Amino acid sequence: MGIQIANEITCQPIRPTKSVPSLIDDVAAGLFSAQKQLPPKYFYDDRGSELFDRICDEPEYYPTRTEDALLKQSADHIIATVEPSRIIEFGSGMSRKIRHLFDACSKLECYPTYVPFDVCDDVMIKSGEQLAETYSWLNVAPLSGDYTAGLGNVPISAGRNLLMFLGGTIGNFPETEAVAFLSELRDLMGIDDQLLIGADRVKQPDVLHAAYNDVAGVTAKFNLNLLDVLNRELGATFDRSNFEHYAFYDPRKNQIEMHLVCMHDQEVWFEKLQRSLEFKEGEAMRTEISRKFTRETLEQMLLSAGFEVVSHYEASAHPFSLVLARPA
Ligand code: SAH
Ligand code: TRP
Repeated sequence: MGIQIANEITCQPIRPTKSVPSLIDDVAAGLFSAQKQLPPKYFYDDRGSELFDRICDEPEYYPTRTEDALLKQSADHIIATVEPSRIIEFGSGMSRKIRHLFDACSKLECYPTYVPFDVCDDVMIKSGEQLAETYSWLNVAPLSGDYTAGLGNVPISAGRNLLMFLGGTIGNFPETEAVAFLSELRDLMGIDDQLLIGADRVKQPDVLHAAYNDVAGVTAKFNLNLLDVLNRELGATFDRSNFEHYAFYDPRKNQIEMHLVCMHDQEVWFEKLQRSLEFKEGEAMRTEISRKFTRETLEQMLLSAGFEVVSHYEASAHPFSLVLARPA
């Protein structure tokens, strides 16, 4: 008999409820096509998660600091309004900002279980252990999986659930997929459950541009890391030094687009696909979009997904929104 470790954290795998393309499928459909693109979830291997965490500390990347400050200001109000018995956070990453909610929970004597849901198990375990050190009352029960693969197997308990989706990650989905994902969240929720969502707002294009082009080059490294992921997972032969990070804001679409641009003709072999792919000089693959909202477009999107707004918390220096919403 081993010694029982009281707070050992293990991740519960969530089985998909719809078939999602594998990396091979996504590459076959997305790269072997005229408009080369890939979904963003492949950024987040261990190295990618570490780089993302560094992006959050870069001076130009205002969203993390802004959302953090906003959560700090509104935490008491959110916890007093929802009184959650469970907090389920999608795309939780390092679970740093959520500490403000737990501080409010300690103060208001509300003791929810914390359920992070991410593709990156190691990060959830490490962050969960750190949280449990600070908050002795906290039970951390991570779910591991792909939140785009259907949420039908996400265990939802009686009592009040607070679902969270922070970091402006909703903006990484195109509009139709964003509404579909939010509708799935709503379908999961009971009448007393609420959703807290963080979304970035339109603002001066220069400020947006700078946030995805930090001078230290961490975002560039993060973007280029995708090529290492493809080389490793698919036995591909991308030469990183041949590609450049390029991110820009398109004010007509209200979105950042992030690309990797090929600087010299290059033929890339994919061992796992037994195929090669030609990249021409100047040819780009789109690796990410990050949509920016107005107060109206954000609330309209929530409405379309079957929510009604309970509270809309706004930061003004760098516009950013945190919205508490419930099933309409
Ligand atoms: N919420 C954090 C992290 C945002 S980065 C913040 O606001 O700073 C996006 C996070 O979502 C990463 O931790 C990444 O691992 C996770 N993620 C991205 N795509 C995912 C998917 N399809 N399924 C589950 N997690 C995903
Ligand atoms: N959700 C974040 C955003 O859209 C993700 C992100 C930040 C990101 N910086 C990035 C994704 C750079 C790719 C590249 O702001």
